[in-house]
Amino acid sequence: MSKFWSKLLKQTDPYIPGEQPKTTKVIKLNTNENPYPPSPKVLDAIKQATDESLRLYPSPTADDLRETVASYYGLKDNQIFIGNGSDEVLAFSFMAFFNPGEKILFPDISYSFYPVYAKLFQIDYELVELTGDFTIPVEQFFNAKGGVIFPNPNAPTGVLLSLNDVELILQNNKEKVVIIDEAYIDFGGESAVQLVDQYDNLLVIQTLSKSRSLAGMRVGLAVGNENLITGLNHIKNSVNSYTLDRLALVAAKASFEDEVYFKEVCETIIQEREKAASTLRALGFHVLQSQANFLFASHPKVDAEFLYEQLKERNIFIRFFKKPKIDQYVRITVGNRADMQEFFDVLKEIV
Ligand SMILES: Cc1ncc(COP(=O)(O)O)c(C=O)c1O
Repeated sequence: MSKFWSKLLKQTDPYIPGEQPKTTKVIKLNTNENPYPPSPKVLDAIKQATDESLRLYPSPTADDLRETVASYYGLKDNQIFIGNGSDEVLAFSFMAFFNPGEKILFPDISYSFYPVYAKLFQIDYELVELTGDFTIPVEQFFNAKGGVIFPNPNAPTGVLLSLNDVELILQNNKEKVVIIDEAYIDFGGESAVQLVDQYDNLLVIQTLSKSRSLAGMRVGLAVGNENLITGLNHIKNSVNSYTLDRLALVAAKASFEDEVYFKEVCETIIQEREKAASTLRALGFHVLQSQANFLFASHPKVDAEFLYEQLKERNIFIRFFKKPKIDQYVRITVGNRADMQEFFDVLKEIV
């Protein structure tokens, strides 16, 4: 803290990202990245775009990419917003749709960036307690004073809420914006994107960081009623008009154009997840039913922080959150076959 810091800066409580170890000789199962590379067509598109045109600003409106995403989802371009990672889209959404003095609701166990944004933008919030089995208590999200936001599937639990339940929350918050953060939806959930024409209060936020292997490119998007998208554009153009670089724009477009590769990668990860869940259960872990690319697990006899530290000593990184209710759980990203094999070899020794 310094005397030069603004009042706003002094009240921030920044998010702490998962470790990004400098050496590549680690098994990295801690930030839900995709263990498979982006589609070869994506890499090719990036190479093609790496030319003298980089001296020019990128499209401020990401028109090409928005057109591609709109046609992918059978929607109109003006229902799509593109941002620099979904974290940026989330931050803009907090600014665009939530107000100080009107409490927004999100689960007590959820993405830890939400309280960070709420504090930064001075938005009051109330944490809604998940049930004992970590499911979202739907009715407690009805009639929110300021709006609603939650990940579906939830993070870090991986637990999915059915589309019917999402719809109930939308129907019972008609005057407020409900944001569904679908960072992990492609690993087994049913997207709420299909509801955007029906609910003008729905904003769906997605990312290309997980299912599309593009965490390094930083592309996120929002889908919703055109009025909400106009609102997001107003915020974006009040902060930074060119949030995505030229290479990210073409990479993202190429990814949406290679459906076969995308489906194959998601399917492989889903199968690996199910295998890993059974192996963990066989080792005595309690594993939540996950529809994401990670597993949230706890062992009755092995302390979670100890497990995290032991694995880290052997260069295997998983995620541990030292927080009430979940400090006996670890979150394990689903890696490729070889990584999972090595992870389990070491885990068996520890357990
Ligand atoms: C629930 C959730 N939302 C959003 C994000 C942000 O993703 P990105 O900014 O890479 O698009 C993450 C990343 O881990 C996440 O877990």
